[in-house]
Amino acid sequence: MPENGKPVRAPDLLRWKAKGRRVTVLTAYDALTARRLERAGVDVLLVGDSLGMVVLGHETTVPVTIEDIVHHTRAVSRVVQRPLVVADMPFLSYRTGLNEAVRNAGILVQQGGAAAVKLEGGGSALRTVAQIVDAGIPVMGHLGLTPQSVHQLGGFGRQAKDSESAEALLDDARGLEAAGAFAIVLESIPPELAASVSTEVSIPTIGIGAGPDCDGQVLVTEDMLGLVEGPPPFARVYAQLGDEMEKAVRAFADDVREDRFGRED
Ligand code: KIV
Repeated sequence: MPENGKPVRAPDLLRWKAKGRRVTVLTAYDALTARRLERAGVDVLLVGDSLGMVVLGHETTVPVTIEDIVHHTRAVSRVVQRPLVVADMPFLSYRTGLNEAVRNAGILVQQGGAAAVKLEGGGSALRTVAQIVDAGIPVMGHLGLTPQSVHQLGGFGRQAKDSESAEALLDDARGLEAAGAFAIVLESIPPELAASVSTEVSIPTIGIGAGPDCDGQVLVTEDMLGLVEGPPPFARVYAQLGDEMEKAVRAFADDVREDRFGRED
C-alpha cells in the first residue's frame, strides 16, 4: 500500500515527483498477472497496446482496437484495488477528431474501468490531450519511440538522436505538461535527453529505454519475466519464466506419453 494506504490516483504521481519518490509501472493485460503485480507492490498497471504484439500475435501495435483494450482493461480493473489502471488509446482512436477522442477515452474509463488513459505523440495530439483532460479523464503522454507510428518512423529504433529532434521532444514534453497530462512515458531516447526532460517538466517522466534518470520506469511484464522471445534491446530481464514454462510443459507431456501421469505415488 502507498504511504496513506489508499488506491493510487493520478495526482499522487505528481506529489511523488515533488518528493523524489520513483514510480513503478508494468504492463498488465489479464487478471492473473494484475493480481501478482498488485501483490508485488507495483504502483501503475498499464494496459498497453503492446498486448497486440505480446499476447495477440500481431507484428505491430497498429491492429489493436478499442474493443481489445476495453476487454483487457476490464480483466485488470476488475481484480485490483491499489494500482492506478491506465488504458492505452489504440491506433487512430484519438486521431480522427476531438469528439471521437473524448468518446473513446470515456469508453476506456466507463466500460473498461480504467482510471486514466495514455496516448502517443506531441504536436497536434496536444489539443486532444487538453480536451480529454477537460472531460475529467487523466492523461499520460508518450514521446520518443511511439510504436503506433512504426510505419512512419521506419522501425522501432531509438528516437531524438540529433539536437533538432531532441529540442522538438523537449517542446512536446512542455506542451504535454501545459495540456494537463499527469505523466509522460519516454520511450527509447538518449538517457541525457530523458534526464533533461525530467528536470524541465514538473510532471513525472516514466522511462523505457531512456536511462536511469526518469521519475519512474515502465517495462512490458512479459519482457522482464523472460516470457518473450527476442525482447527489445532496452528491456531488462529479471527472470526466465519462458524456459521454466517449457520445462514444466515438457515434463507433463513426457509423463503422459510414458504412462507415468498419476502413477507417481
Ligand atoms: O503499449 C505499451 O506497453 C507501452 C509501454 C511500452 C510504455 O506503451
